[in-house]
Amino acid sequence: MGERGLIPPHGGELVGLVVSDATRRSLAQDALKMPRIALPEREQCDLELLAVGAMSPLRTFMSEPDFHAVCTDMRLAGGAAWSVPITCSVDAATAERIPFGSRVALTDEQDRALAVLQVEEKYRHDKGALECEAVYRTRDAAHPGVAVTMSQGDVCLSGPLQVLTPRHEPAFGGYRMTPSQTRAAFAERGWRSVVAFQTRNPIHRAHEYITKCALEICDGLMVHPLVGQTQKGDIPADTRMRCYEALLSNYYSARSAMLAVWPAAMRYAGPREAVLHALIRKNYGCTHFIVGRDHAGVGNYYGTYDAQKIFDEFEPGEIGITPLRFENSFWCRKSGSMATEKTTNSAAEDRVSLSGTAVREMLARGERPPVEFTRPEIADILIEDMRRG
Ligand code: ADX
Repeated sequence: MGERGLIPPHGGELVGLVVSDATRRSLAQDALKMPRIALPEREQCDLELLAVGAMSPLRTFMSEPDFHAVCTDMRLAGGAAWSVPITCSVDAATAERIPFGSRVALTDEQDRALAVLQVEEKYRHDKGALECEAVYRTRDAAHPGVAVTMSQGDVCLSGPLQVLTPRHEPAFGGYRMTPSQTRAAFAERGWRSVVAFQTRNPIHRAHEYITKCALEICDGLMVHPLVGQTQKGDIPADTRMRCYEALLSNYYSARSAMLAVWPAAMRYAGPREAVLHALIRKNYGCTHFIVGRDHAGVGNYYGTYDAQKIFDEFEPGEIGITPLRFENSFWCRKSGSMATEKTTNSAAEDRVSLSGTAVREMLARGERPPVEFTRPEIADILIEDMRRG
């Protein structure tokens, strides 16, 4: 255990890349004269996580040895576990125009400077054969994570990174907590063990069940919804936030559960992404991490429990945070409670299970799904959201 009894960050030290107020003004002035690189949304999300130390021990976008080691071996070149490349890439012509050692301004979509990167390395971005095959286990362009990766540049840049601001106009106010802030919040509440719950969906009864099971063995729960880039068709983050607030205030105890947003981009990389999600939550100070069925999955690209099995590919201690594995959960009419294959012998017809499509169709018709599937407060928010379009 580290400072104040909390779990140490990955690599031992929480990284911070945001420059001091004294440096910001002059660096921002300098940045006006530098070549500008507009970061796509995923890189903007990654930059924010790098800036606040959520990606510790990473201090910048990955160098070539790290990129290769992560793709082939799920480790950084220095040996620490890491499962997904974090890169900043440009097209070949742009890369050609940037001399080694020079500085570039990384900007958002409105051309506002976010950071300054000193380009000490340029290397070929092996997107298809290496990154997509290793990370997504497919090169199918219909996979939303593959599509984003394949749209990135062919040359990756790396070098010292100084961040002016993690994000201009960050949404979700006080819920957007940095790892230092969540660590302070856990210490203040006296939580020694904290389970993180990653989600990109409204919280249905199955999610509620697994978070509460986890809470029975941990001091605290941090509901940590991903609010960065997601694919079309996923429920927008602001709607989900209203669902989380309603659920937490009605069905959880404020003494043991808190809500914070995670400004990351969804990669839909299933097992590889589950490891990334866990390592990053360790940096936020969590000791446990929920991995249920088809974690971070999309379509039929991954097996139902692949995201659990992948943790067995690491030595004990390499990951540090403890994955809590949950089987597919559902309401069981025979037991009159939530259950899994492990805890009931009921037949399929005794189990309330609905597909995502069926739920969306009910909500679109203005119908609440069964209370055994979704709490009415949540159903009403989703119905209202659908009405507004
Ligand atoms: S995810 O992309 O963030 O994984 P989602 O928000 O649906 O998607 O899931 C959040 C977490 O709950 C994941 O760990 C997922 O595996 C788990 N989960 C979702 N539904 C169930 C279920 N019915 N039974 C068990 N675990 C589930």
